[in-house]
Amino acid sequence: DGLNARAVAAGKKYFGTAISTTILNDASANAIGKNFQDFGQYTCENEMKFDATEPSRGSFSYGNADKIVAQAQANGQILRCHALVWHSQVPSWVTSGGFNNATLISIMQNHIANVVGHYKGKCYAWDVVNEALNEDGSYRSSGSVWGSTIGPAFIPIAFAAAAAADPGAKLYYNDYNCDKAGAKATGAQNLIKMVKSYGAPIHGFGMQGHMTTGQVGSASALVSNMQGFTALGVEVAYTELDMATPSSNPNFNQQATDYATVVSACKQVAGCVGITIWGFTDRYTWISNSAPLPWDTNFQKKAAYASILNAWGSA
Ligand code: G3I
Repeated sequence: DGLNARAVAAGKKYFGTAISTTILNDASANAIGKNFQDFGQYTCENEMKFDATEPSRGSFSYGNADKIVAQAQANGQILRCHALVWHSQVPSWVTSGGFNNATLISIMQNHIANVVGHYKGKCYAWDVVNEALNEDGSYRSSGSVWGSTIGPAFIPIAFAAAAAADPGAKLYYNDYNCDKAGAKATGAQNLIKMVKSYGAPIHGFGMQGHMTTGQVGSASALVSNMQGFTALGVEVAYTELDMATPSSNPNFNQQATDYATVVSACKQVAGCVGITIWGFTDRYTWISNSAPLPWDTNFQKKAAYASILNAWGSA
């Protein structure tokens, strides 16, 4: 029994976690991360990103990601692969190279062909484009080498390149603050339509789900938002779920309620294929001074663990 076992019993493909080299190197943490009953899916937290996989032009490095992939395969966990084209964690040879439009397109296509090709057949899904939208739903340009040099056309070009490199992977657009209806969620729906209008395949929308304890509200708002995406013919998933609460003054009961709300919403939508939490222990979280995850800093289960189990229903 566990978080993944219950998700599968509820008809989902997986309940999973982000995993990192840091966790692989911590035996106590890794023992939790390896438990297939809790985690049927992994996402590399940083190891498949552009700066990790192509640190200098045309020179690819897969060592850290390959270790995580090997552990996943040994334990039967499926992989969501993350992330090909993002404005962050791009090495300076790309951002400071002064490349023109045509050259940057070929750099992006070459990167995708190599990385997706290296993991061909191993990724259930790829986050092809990550966080390409501003909060008002417009396409991000400022601060993005891709958006400012190529323009929004980089998005369908990236999806086409990923499809060519691994026709079997589900290709996702992934973003945050799209968990409820609003300008950014509408922008994400427009982005999906735009990719399709160029004839490129897109199969999924990843709601990152970086949420704040006490601000989640009702499941019905999450459900209707997901239905806005599934109506476009794509599947949805929560891809980076965490529930911030200040470590100095945490509210773990409300956090447990809010996790259960998200699980209940996914359970109600047939097209919601699974949930990934962005790490599992508060010892290793990207959010400073926060305790957002279901295990505490000493690897003990918090109230959120039981509430997630319960929200999936019986095994
Ligand atoms: O690469 C250096 C390494 O050489 C050095 O030893 C180490 C020392 O602290 O720092 C390393 O880089 C850090 C990297 O994580 C690996 O630990 C970066 O400084 C740090 O900025 C980076 O943070 C990651 C962040 O993405 C970058 O934007 C977080 O771990 C990761 O959780 C976070 O994940 C993102 C998703 O990919 C996309 N959605 C938002 C989410 C949260 O920001």
